[in-house]
Amino acid sequence: MRKAVCPGSFDPVTNGHLDIIARAARQFDEVTVAVLINKRKASLFTVEERIEILTTATASMGNVVVDAFHGLLVDFCQERDISAIVKGLRAVSDFDYELQMAQMNHRLTGVETLFVSTNPLYSYLSSSLVKEVATYGGDVSGLLPDMVLERMNAKLVAKAANEAK
Ligand code: PNS
Repeated sequence: MRKAVCPGSFDPVTNGHLDIIARAARQFDEVTVAVLINKRKASLFTVEERIEILTTATASMGNVVVDAFHGLLVDFCQERDISAIVKGLRAVSDFDYELQMAQMNHRLTGVETLFVSTNPLYSYLSSSLVKEVATYGGDVSGLLPDMVLERMNAKLVAKAANEAK
């Protein structure tokens, strides 16, 4: 069984992520989408919410499962017998850090990293940019599933109300 992981923060998942996950799922028998648990980084959605959203967003992909991890990604891969990490590359600016991580991960356990070129439709897209634009009322529809957009907007409204207190 050929297994891969698509790791990330997914705060929230975008159509760019989903494009990479779907393409990975066509190349592997099973793809695990792994949400990084990072208590030091402030996030809009909790890990549980992100898992729930990702599970709904990937429901039509029969060989995709969603999980969370903390610590080293290579340990998560070893525990689950996952031999490949699949990452999307949006632009040259992504490459330096991604190459560094790929080389370090390979040195640690021999896990391979496969880079998928991001669909040009989404090459400028990131979760943080989507959140920033939506926070100030910009239109981000079409960049993430409608269900995710609705949940993000509700979160941002609640966050703004909280900050105004
Ligand atoms: O969506 P992100 O935040 O860009 O994803 C980054 C992620 C989760 C893929 C990366 O930070 C990661 O793999 N973190 C796990 C910790 C780890 O293994 N660090 C060593 C990397 S060589």
